[in-house]
Amino acid sequence: MTIQRITVAQIKARKGGNPIVSLTAYHAAFAAIADNYCDFLLVGDSVGMVVYGMDTTLSVKSELMIAHGKAVVQGSKQALVVLDMPFGTYEESPEQAFRNAVYLIKETGCGALKLEGGVRISRTVRFLVERGIPVMGHIGLTPQMVKGFGGFKIQGKDAFGAKSIEEDGMAIEAAGAFALVVEGVVESLAARITDVLKIPTIGIGASSACDGQILVVEDMLGISRFVPKFVRRYASVGTIMDEAFKNYANDVRARKFPSGSEIYR
Ligand code: KIV
Repeated sequence: MTIQRITVAQIKARKGGNPIVSLTAYHAAFAAIADNYCDFLLVGDSVGMVVYGMDTTLSVKSELMIAHGKAVVQGSKQALVVLDMPFGTYEESPEQAFRNAVYLIKETGCGALKLEGGVRISRTVRFLVERGIPVMGHIGLTPQMVKGFGGFKIQGKDAFGAKSIEEDGMAIEAAGAFALVVEGVVESLAARITDVLKIPTIGIGASSACDGQILVVEDMLGISRFVPKFVRRYASVGTIMDEAFKNYANDVRARKFPSGSEIYR
């Protein structure tokens, strides 16, 4: 029996229902495991920081997203695969965004794209949605604006900031996005946005007031260099890897590895 992938419409219909489960994914092998539990997998531009050790996501290029996007689409069967549009590929004009969006979708086979920003990019979101490209929004602490924010800092702490993030959410919904990532905002604001919007909100560092949650997979597995405070660690995979690498090194140093006749079973 062919397994049907979860659709954008199914994610949208989960507003106020069973919480939406999501993780980032960058590799086929990780995607295959996460696929058993996640409603959608995000090929985040966080790949630049998590996999390639970059300080921000700003240097990530379309080619990198395509390589990892293809791996995640190939490794998964049921989850919707959402891909981040990297910094600089959509801000100039709706036409630029459309050209790059088509390129990313054709090359990866992903089911939707995620764009960071609110009111500022709502015209672009509408332009993409009207041309058949499903868009997930992303507001609050949007990492592509890290230089403007002066670091990875919680957003919407004062009334003015909170109001403008709420307006961002409303603009992205009105532009036709099917879901919205809300990152790094105080709980009262996440709750308010979730209450006001008809599309599901997916929180990251935004409390359980949202309609679902996404985490960076390496953070929750305990293999990231820097883990944000809000992340619950579900395993200490880094410690397990350390033990395995140590045992391996000891075996090699003791010449405990197969002779030529034993290899390639
Ligand atoms: O790039 C990413 O991983 C993201 C998530 C943190 C939402 O955008």
